[in-house]
Amino acid sequence: MIAHLVGARTALEIGTFIGNTTMHLARMVGEAGYVTTIECGHQFADVARKNFIRNGLNKRITLLEGYAGNILPTLGKSYYDLIFIDGGKQDYLDYTLKCERLLSERGVIIVDDVFFHGDALNAKPQTAKGAGCKVLLDSYRNREDLGKLLLPVGNGMLMLFRK
Ligand SMILES: C[S@@+](CC[C@H](N)C(=O)[O-])C[C@H]1O[C@@H](n2cnc3c(N)ncnc32)[C@H](O)[C@@H]1O
Repeated sequence: MIAHLVGARTALEIGTFIGNTTMHLARMVGEAGYVTTIECGHQFADVARKNFIRNGLNKRITLLEGYAGNILPTLGKSYYDLIFIDGGKQDYLDYTLKCERLLSERGVIIVDDVFFHGDALNAKPQTAKGAGCKVLLDSYRNREDLGKLLLPVGNGMLMLFRK
């Protein structure tokens, strides 16, 4: 729905898994659109590629296999209308900062699961993933240059956009 509201024609995803959200994004950007998705798990990437072909969406999806931290700096700036960050929670802050450069003028960044089962809201999170989400939330809380919306849906979604 957010991809539709934004009128996204280009999307980037971190964390493909078996390609479920990737394919939703590919349908939303339409035939002329383009989705890039990043996955570090070789076996997941293999299943995802097969799913893209099976569903006739492989022409508009590029799966980049590897760690997001290494791949993000290689992508072109100001290109993506929607960026969905859904992998590597320990490194969410690093990935989100790197994604700012990649965002188009009308673009939106969505970071998923930012409450991490409530652990990110603890003064001292008990898991590395919870700690990664807390660092992200604390860092963006005072960013006045960006529009921010924290949606208490599921495990929490942080939306960021240019003002
Ligand atoms: C929650 S799943 C993604 C689910 C998918 N977006 C969906 O909703 O269908 C997270 C995925 O991120 C991948 N991942 C974790 N850390 C990563 C990293 N640093 N770089 C790339 N992928 C990563 C994991 O292997 C896993 O497949």
